[in-house]
Amino acid sequence: MTHYDLELVKLRKVYPGGTVAVEEFDLSVKRGEFISFVGPSGCGKTTTLRMIAGLESITSGDLVIRGKNFTNVPTEHRPTSTIFQNYAIFPHMTVRQNIEFGLHVRKLGAAEIKKRTDAIIEKLELGDVVNARESALSGGQKQRLSLARGLVTEPDILLLDEPLGALDANLRKSIQEELKILQRELNITFVFVTHAQSEALSMGDRVVVMNAGKVEQVSAPFELYTRPQSAFVARFIGRNRIIPGELAEVAEGRASVITPLGKFSGVPSFKQGAASVGQKAMLVAPSEYIDIVPAHEKAADASFEKAEGTVMTLEPVGHVVYVGVELPGMAPMRIEAYRERIEGRNIENGSRVELRWKPERATIVLGEM
Ligand SMILES: Nc1ncnc2c1ncn2[C@@H]1O[C@H](COP(=O)(O)OP(=O)(O)OP(=O)(O)O)[C@@H](O)[C@H]1O
Ligand SMILES: [Mg+2]
Repeated sequence: MTHYDLELVKLRKVYPGGTVAVEEFDLSVKRGEFISFVGPSGCGKTTTLRMIAGLESITSGDLVIRGKNFTNVPTEHRPTSTIFQNYAIFPHMTVRQNIEFGLHVRKLGAAEIKKRTDAIIEKLELGDVVNARESALSGGQKQRLSLARGLVTEPDILLLDEPLGALDANLRKSIQEELKILQRELNITFVFVTHAQSEALSMGDRVVVMNAGKVEQVSAPFELYTRPQSAFVARFIGRNRIIPGELAEVAEGRASVITPLGKFSGVPSFKQGAASVGQKAMLVAPSEYIDIVPAHEKAADASFEKAEGTVMTLEPVGHVVYVGVELPGMAPMRIEAYRERIEGRNIENGSRVELRWKPERATIVLGEM
């Protein structure tokens, strides 16, 4: 018996016409996990979700749900429900009829249909609008109705494709919270597709980053944010600062790169033996881990890595100042600093400054920009 709710094994999708939309997609999801998929437009998120739902055929590979192979099982016999960005609400039906629809399709008895529908109406607070039609619903109510429809069939796995994309920012935030609470309460596995990395990171127990049909990295949000495993993730997720170079040394748990600014060490995101000295690599550190000080203030703590540059621009925005720093041999770097760390410390246009960070907070990633 497998303890996974959902397993994707080398899932691949080639559309008629030859577009390879998804390749070598491997993922194992535990019961009750909230998994987010994030990646640029066209990277294959929707295709993957539709293959899980049975709305799109699987070219090769296997789809396993709770230990059973569903690769070739039609959609109506899969224990999944899908929620789409546009909600796909039937406009001629009331809220109640929309919710009941999926239960009629599954040929449940009248008493069971009423019991389940009443329960989900209460859970999602749709009591006031049960007889309303789509045209009379607010964005948030439509959102709740689409969730009710997805959940009333009691799926093992709920698939959500950019379900909050149509909502304004405030409503989106509050529905994000509701959704997360609901998911914990029901202990249903959620696979949640989004464009927005902040949403993927704040909602997901784990995040799958996709690029060009492939999985780049699967990690818990903090891990993903602080320890990217590829050049793509380093650029796409978070607010990383990147210094390109070449790999100089590799040991277990520590590596160093030679860059135009000097030799720096950090935590390798690859296994020892998976890389060789001299290949392209980069030092990556989240912006918030890089401090900026006037160059004449010598660092008291010798455990910092340091690089010297010249301030080119200062751009205060609220309590933060963005400082553009020119560095030898590479593109200027934009540093974010708290206003009080900049003002009154002689950090001005033309000032020499030192950037400092702790080596253990930097990651060495293979590849180039
Ligand atoms: N029905 C189809 N027939 C042929 N190609 C398709 C079809 N649907 C999607 N594609 C192609 O497959 C690739 C992946 O598309 P998909 O819709 O899965 O991306 P996505 O990550 O969901 O993008 P978005 O963020 O824009 O929704 C794209 O190159 C797209 O053009
Ligand atoms: Mg999509």
